[in-house]
Amino acid sequence: MNTSFHIPVSVEWNNDHIKILNQQVLPQTEEYMELRTLHDVHEAIQSLKVRGAPAIGIAGAYGLAMAAAHYETEDITEFIALLEKDTGYLSSSRPTAVNLNWALTRLNRAAQKSKSVNEAKTELLHEAIRIHTEDEEMCRQIGEYSLTLLHAEEPVMTICNAGSIATAKYGTALAPFHLAMERGKQFTVYACETRPLLQGSRLTVWELEKSGVDVTLISDSMAAYTIQEKGIKAIIVGADRIALNGDTANKIGTFGLALLAKAFQIPFYVAAPTSTFDFSIDSGSDIPIEERNPEELKSIQGIFTSTESAKVFNPAFDVTPSNLITAIITEKGIVYPDYRKSILKLKPEA
Ligand code: MRU
Repeated sequence: MNTSFHIPVSVEWNNDHIKILNQQVLPQTEEYMELRTLHDVHEAIQSLKVRGAPAIGIAGAYGLAMAAAHYETEDITEFIALLEKDTGYLSSSRPTAVNLNWALTRLNRAAQKSKSVNEAKTELLHEAIRIHTEDEEMCRQIGEYSLTLLHAEEPVMTICNAGSIATAKYGTALAPFHLAMERGKQFTVYACETRPLLQGSRLTVWELEKSGVDVTLISDSMAAYTIQEKGIKAIIVGADRIALNGDTANKIGTFGLALLAKAFQIPFYVAAPTSTFDFSIDSGSDIPIEERNPEELKSIQGIFTSTESAKVFNPAFDVTPSNLITAIITEKGIVYPDYRKSILKLKPEA
């Protein structure tokens, strides 16, 4: 059994600041950055230095605990008001992944239970650490369940990076490949490039190569032909927000892959922790879709690949209707349609 895991940690709490792996400059540079203010954390999330729904939640949680540690008031009511203001600011950094709001809500609840400012400051950091450590275990569980559906001898396709660096460890959609590798079994994975910000080619290929997984890069437009020619047997993706009816927001291009899976009659799996479910919304039409800077599509690393004046539509995510999803793999088990019923069972007690 190969028990080594070579993927760097993407978010770490370092005594009084956050250390992140800067995913903006991967794979050319493996650079670490220190985040010391709320503004640093907001900027790092917005610019995708730290990215992937669970990792954003972890960074946001540490960011809020770090900011609150510097509040000067001794008055708990005033402390909670400051916390709510900073929560609003942090949650505005990226709108689609619900994990950020989920993590910030957990922290706010922990503070509200505290009787003094000192207790609240300690509880906030403890809750952020819990969110971080729980995520690693959730991802490992997702990997275990995924391995009951996927088989190492059958080629698989994925998009974006739902990997170790998008979470505490292992990832969601990439967890089965890492776990299989640890057990000496190798998957063949086809990674879609993921335009415009290239999370597939820059991050998934880098991460799976480091793990020793057999990964092949394709451009997004090669997906249909690759499924046909390479005999892809399943598609597995991560998620940024899942509605009560199972509709799933994930990286732009995911919806297209789900339609391809249906056309080729292969399973389409979503792998996500329960922190990615938004139990407050009924369907995907309620999910806010982030639209990003047009420059991201008009240019690559500062060089224009279109006219400077090109009109651009640049949604970062799309919503896959639940009728195209074969199953959703969570840390609590695999859920199948009827999603409305099976997802409600995942809802934690209030
Ligand atoms: O814009 P990104 O890179 O943050 O988008 C990430 C994704 O779409 C992932 O698939 C999702 O967050 C799940 S990460 C485990």
